[in-house]
Amino acid sequence: MDRRDKSVNQGVAPVTYGQGERPPRGDYAKASADYTCEQDWAQYSAADHDTYRRLYTRQLQQLPGLACDEFIAAVQQLGAPDRIPRFVDVNQKLQPATGWQIVAVPGLIPEEAFFALLAARRFPVTDWIRKPEEFDYVVEPDVFHDLFGHVPLLFNPVFADYMQAYGAGGLKASRLDACELLARLYWYTVEFGLISTPAGLRAYGAGILSSAGELRHSVGAPEPRRVGFDLRRLMRSQYKIDTYQATYFVIDSFDQLFKATEPDFTPVYREVRAQIASHGEVAAGQVLDGEREFAIA
Ligand code: PHE
Ligand code: CO
Repeated sequence: MDRRDKSVNQGVAPVTYGQGERPPRGDYAKASADYTCEQDWAQYSAADHDTYRRLYTRQLQQLPGLACDEFIAAVQQLGAPDRIPRFVDVNQKLQPATGWQIVAVPGLIPEEAFFALLAARRFPVTDWIRKPEEFDYVVEPDVFHDLFGHVPLLFNPVFADYMQAYGAGGLKASRLDACELLARLYWYTVEFGLISTPAGLRAYGAGILSSAGELRHSVGAPEPRRVGFDLRRLMRSQYKIDTYQATYFVIDSFDQLFKATEPDFTPVYREVRAQIASHGEVAAGQVLDGEREFAIA
């Protein structure tokens, strides 16, 4: 049975992190009001599990020297790599570690529903997996991206708190009409963040960690710009949704990230808007005068 043939929830337009014209994939009719659904584990096919196994194996092999230690230490908590995990099994480990839980969703969900889940320490994980023809690139996040990319760092106490704070901050940003600025923070940290370590640059962003090509590109290729994390600079910066990032922001530690984002953003949004009005946005790949770039190994 093809789940994608079923009608989708037309009530609320899901967030698409871009300007896609396709309707979202996934069966939104089965979701509750908070957009969560059951993970119908029995209906994954052998081919689905095989796709997961092949993605996981390819990615795991590339992690040494490219992924941050915290991610490598926790990735095994996802369980056996040979089949799509049951979310209840992941939660048996995750919940005692940091109080987070993962919940199934049919795909991308509206911003406010997403923020509310994060604020409650519930991370939404798409239940479907990409088709074999989409092995290297899938437009929307699937269970592999959501689980492999995002869940290991939810085992890290500081990052776990950051994600919850992001959710609470998102609910506030909705009221302040600042979601576009806040989304840049998610993009450049949670999805495409790099961290500087004594051994060199490493990836912690889920969009990088779940991508076969971007892992190497982000950490080691000469083309992209790599600049230090600066909240206001970041919020002025545009990003790419259909190619590897042209700029990455580098943090020194998860503590630095948490502390830099802890203050109330209400005045920050005002300052950033004023700066955009006077100096414009920063294009992806653009480096500002006097800005230091991180060297690659
Ligand atoms: N401090 C932010 C605010 O007041 C909340 C936040 C924390 C947002 C961490 C993002 C990440 O809006
Ligand atoms: Co993601």
